[in-house]
Amino acid sequence: MATPSSFEFDGDLIAALRDARFIAVLTGAGISAESGLATFRDAQTGLWARFDPRELATPSAFARNPKLVWDWYAWRREHVAAARPNAGHLALAELEQRVPEFALITQNVDGLHQRAGSRNPIELHGNITRVKCSREGAIVRHWDARPDAVPHCANCGALLRPDVVWFEEMLPEQALAAADDAARRCNVLLVVGTSAEVYPAAALPALAQRSGAIIVEINPNATPLSATADYVLRGAAGVVLPALLAALD
Ligand code: APR
Repeated sequence: MATPSSFEFDGDLIAALRDARFIAVLTGAGISAESGLATFRDAQTGLWARFDPRELATPSAFARNPKLVWDWYAWRREHVAAARPNAGHLALAELEQRVPEFALITQNVDGLHQRAGSRNPIELHGNITRVKCSREGAIVRHWDARPDAVPHCANCGALLRPDVVWFEEMLPEQALAAADDAARRCNVLLVVGTSAEVYPAAALPALAQRSGAIIVEINPNATPLSATADYVLRGAAGVVLPALLAALD
């Protein structure tokens, strides 16, 4: 792995970041890859490669087989709990301290941004560490975890479910509105570790660019965004982000 100091950045990019009053960041599963959490679409390791998303992350899958879906998320919760924020997460928490206005928009449900110290991430797809009543939507802090059954809401008796956005479901309105506002107002948008394929999150970089922001992609691989981004930093988030902060010193 290259050491952060080995990364060279365009002087105009560093100047734009230094001058920015408002920096926004959009992250995807790639920023958690160096924490050992598999991304969704990396063929050799992606979660979906091993599971059929239609079997696990949709309301109909949960209705059809709640135990399978509950157990998969319970397994992922254990993996997330055992993972640690990496240098990329920590660099974003540090960046937040250095700019007048900052917004972190994440598609990730692993909660690693909060654990790294990011104050108020906008969670477009929810958070796997939270569980809610599948009928009332209320967040449930404690439940009776039983190996043979999906826990039920103590209040209304409905099944409990992870507080994440499944395919076919709407994103939380407040989060989407906050992300839209950040994209429209930021001076620079860092797009880190996302394949930029899943909407509406994938629409944010184009909205930001139309609103005058500089778009910076940080990803070891090309994505549909690469052709239009103002800067493409081809590398791992855990290397590039610390190097970018070091270059701002
Ligand atoms: N640093 C930065 N980016 C990385 C790294 C890394 N170390 N490792 C992999 N990546 C990149 C991959 O090249 C890929 O472009 O991270 C991206 C991961 O893409 P996906 O697996 O598609 O994850 P994401 O973009 O977050 O998916 C969006 O799709 O399945 C739904 O709801 C799910 O939130 C998810 C959404």
